[in-house]
Amino acid sequence: MTVLSAPTSHLPPIGKIQKYSAEDLTKAVRYLRLIYNPDVRGIRRIDRNRQKHRSELLSASLKPGSRPSTDPSLEALRSDTFERAYAIRWLTALVSQVYQLLEFADEDLHGGFSDLEDLLQQASALLAICAGTASAGTITRTFRFQNGDTPIEVQLTDVPLENQDYPSVGAQTWGSACLLAEMLVEDPGVFDLGSPPTGVRVLELGAGTGLVSVALGKLLNAKGCCAGTVLATDFHPSVLANLENNLAANFPPPNLQSVSVSSHCLDWAKFPALQDPSAPFDQPFDLIFGADIIYEAEHVRWVKNCVEKLLRKPFSPSVDVRPAFHLIIPLRPTHTLESSAIEEVYPFASEGAMDGGLVTLSKDVVVCEASGDVRSRGGTIEEVEYVHYAIGWCP
Ligand SMILES: C[S@@+](CC[C@H](N)C(=O)[O-])C[C@H]1O[C@@H](n2cnc3c(N)ncnc32)[C@H](O)[C@@H]1O
Repeated sequence: MTVLSAPTSHLPPIGKIQKYSAEDLTKAVRYLRLIYNPDVRGIRRIDRNRQKHRSELLSASLKPGSRPSTDPSLEALRSDTFERAYAIRWLTALVSQVYQLLEFADEDLHGGFSDLEDLLQQASALLAICAGTASAGTITRTFRFQNGDTPIEVQLTDVPLENQDYPSVGAQTWGSACLLAEMLVEDPGVFDLGSPPTGVRVLELGAGTGLVSVALGKLLNAKGCCAGTVLATDFHPSVLANLENNLAANFPPPNLQSVSVSSHCLDWAKFPALQDPSAPFDQPFDLIFGADIIYEAEHVRWVKNCVEKLLRKPFSPSVDVRPAFHLIIPLRPTHTLESSAIEEVYPFASEGAMDGGLVTLSKDVVVCEASGDVRSRGGTIEEVEYVHYAIGWCP
């Protein structure tokens, strides 16, 4: 893990900015982005192998009780208001210097200004993020996906973990959600949503910042789906508050769109014991999604108990979608529950699974670049692997 130093000690001095080359200044702006607007780790797909039963990968999986990693020194740096104020002053000075250069420099002598224009654009964009209304430590990002010719844009805010409060990991967006959102938007047919049916009901468990639900809601609306429902659920109060803000930012009121996207509390530990769940959990769901929601030993069973209760049974075909639970998990080399536990509770249909129970219908391994993450810069991790399980009722 590379530890980033503070802007006050890393950046070229404000009074000497004009002495540095456009290349050095561009590097300095990129450095600030790592702190204030990093990409989500492991989101660029570089390979996609459809592989059922690739169990050797799963043996490199994660220890029960351990947790997704966050970098506390980076979060402390991001939340440091003095450092942020310095970064804002530095960027303001840079933008003003570059403006002057562009105004007075002789284009013929400099062989064009494209480097300076790029630098100005990058510095201004980062300045807007650092100086925005969001409080210190928050990151607001725009995720862009493409469904054919239709662009789907999602704006999300991640908030800092509360005093490194582990249960609030959902206040940040994780790579699994980026990957699942991208897969859904680019290839909805894989999820039986190529021609989204009227009245489709979708549930997301452990939605965190809401990327999957928002992207899906926008996609379904763009594809003209009628009367659909997307429920983004989580259990931690600060995660739910941030989720609600993100939904409101993406579907500003009055939201008259045909597919509704809303947030609700659903605790996997408690829900299965409820006798008569109230609306909106009193009706089953055609599709259930979960991104990076299995990282403590008990999660596998809790989530399974919820899915058993909430996934529509195949013998009630109210909607033309095969009921399925799509689960994406990262294969972290040092963290979380052993993935093999997933295959224990959802055996492959061919492996003597009980008729009528939940089984793994397919398993894909997806390899992504670990780019955009400070933790990968030590050169140790270049790729992140994810597994996509499609789970459904045993045929
Ligand atoms: C690693 S985060 C993933 C969040 C999001 N799916 C993503 O990929 O960005 C795990 C999520 O599961 C939620 N979670 C953990 N335990 C839960 C429980 N018992 N009931 C409901 N949600 C839970 C957390 O609040 C968090 O949002």
